[in-house]
Amino acid sequence: MRHEIIEKNVGLMAVLILVVISFGGLAEIVPLFFQDKTTQPVEGLEPLGALELEGRDIYIREGCNVCHSQMIRPFRAETERYGHYSVAGEFVYNHPFLWGSKRTGPDLARVGGRYSDDWHRAHLYNPRDVVPESKMPAYPWLFQNTLDGADTGAKMKALRTVGVPYTDEQIDGAGEQVKGHKEIDALVAYLQQLGTVLNDKR
Ligand code: HEC
Repeated sequence: MRHEIIEKNVGLMAVLILVVISFGGLAEIVPLFFQDKTTQPVEGLEPLGALELEGRDIYIREGCNVCHSQMIRPFRAETERYGHYSVAGEFVYNHPFLWGSKRTGPDLARVGGRYSDDWHRAHLYNPRDVVPESKMPAYPWLFQNTLDGADTGAKMKALRTVGVPYTDEQIDGAGEQVKGHKEIDALVAYLQQLGTVLNDKR
C-alpha cells in the first residue's frame, strides 16, 4: 500500500531515490575528509617557494595544464614511464589542483629533475629545437617578461588562509625573491620541483 503511494508520486519517488543514492556517495566521499592518507602532507612536503609559486601561476596562465596532466595513476604502464604513482598527500598544498586527465603531452607530475634547466629553457623557447617532432607551442615571451613580485606576498597570504603553512618571514621576503626574474626562471623553478618529494624514495 505504502509502496503504491511512492510509485504513483513521481516527486516523492525522485526525492527518495536521491536519499538512497546519497548514502552511497556519503559512504565513499565523507571518509576521505578524515583519513590521514588524504589530508596529511607526505613527509618532507614543503609549500612552493616564492619563485616556484609565480611559476605555477604562469603555468596556469599559459594553459600548460590543458595538454599536460599532473597525476600518475597506479598502473604499471604509468609507473614504468613516469615513476612512483601520485599520492593524495603530495597535493595538500595545491590550490587549485592541476591533476587533469587530458594528455596531449606527457604527464608532468614527476618531471622535476628529469631534465636540466637549460633543456627546459631551450624546450620552452622552441620545443622543435630539442624534440624535432614536437607539436607543443613555443613560449618565447617568457624570456622577455620580467616579474616585479608585487603580488607574490599577497598570493602566499591568500594560500595561508586555506591551510598552506607559509610563515610571516616567507611572505615578507617573497617579493624580493621574485623581483627582477624573468618569467622563464619562475616556470623552470616550478617544473624542477614537480614530484621530487617522492621521487628519491622510488
Ligand atoms: C598543445 C599542447 C601542449 C601545450 C599547451 C603544452 N605542451 Fe608541453 N608538451 C606537449 C607535447 C606534445 C610534448 C611532447 C613533445 C615534446 O617533448 O616537446 C610536450 C612535452 C613537454 C615537456 C617534456 C616532458 C617529458 O617528460 O619529456 C615539458 C616539461 C613540457 N611539455 C612543459 C610544458 C609547459 C611548461 C607548458 C606551458 C608553458 C606546456 N608544456 C604546454 C604538448 C603541449
